[in-house]
Amino acid sequence: MQKAKGFLPLTATVAMVVVMLCAARVEAAPDMQALADKSGCFSCHSMKAKVVGPGFAEVAGKYKGDGEAPERLAKKIREGGKGAWGRIPMPPHENLSETDARKLAEWVLSIG
Ligand code: HEC
Repeated sequence: MQKAKGFLPLTATVAMVVVMLCAARVEAAPDMQALADKSGCFSCHSMKAKVVGPGFAEVAGKYKGDGEAPERLAKKIREGGKGAWGRIPMPPHENLSETDARKLAEWVLSIG
């Protein structure tokens, strides 16, 4: 019985930490979605399918395993560009900070 005393609170603590970690993960995505929304990305992109620009899941698929993609896409989001998906260019978003552009690029690449 001696053991059981310490075991239960420990299990409860572990369970709580797991729940908290899951909650933090779930919250991270809506935050990024809100930033993308605020930045106007969804006027040309949707999460999955092509609108004016490629769906974010398509972008993630295209650059899977490309270690330089976050850097390159962050730059392209800020400076604009064309040619990777077709002839329609993405306009520059110079009002975005480099940090936010990088966060958006990493978030887009994490969408599966
Ligand atoms: C006016 C329309 C428009 C807006 C607004 C827009 N995009 Fe795009 N985006 C495009 C188009 C068009 C392309 C395809 C460009 C190409 O073919 O290289 C694209 C491509 C991309 C790519 C892939 C680039 C590549 O080289 O493969 C990413 C990532 C991306 N956009 C993210 C964003 C984010 C994040 C925002 C919001 C800050 C945003 N876009 C806002 C039109 C837009």
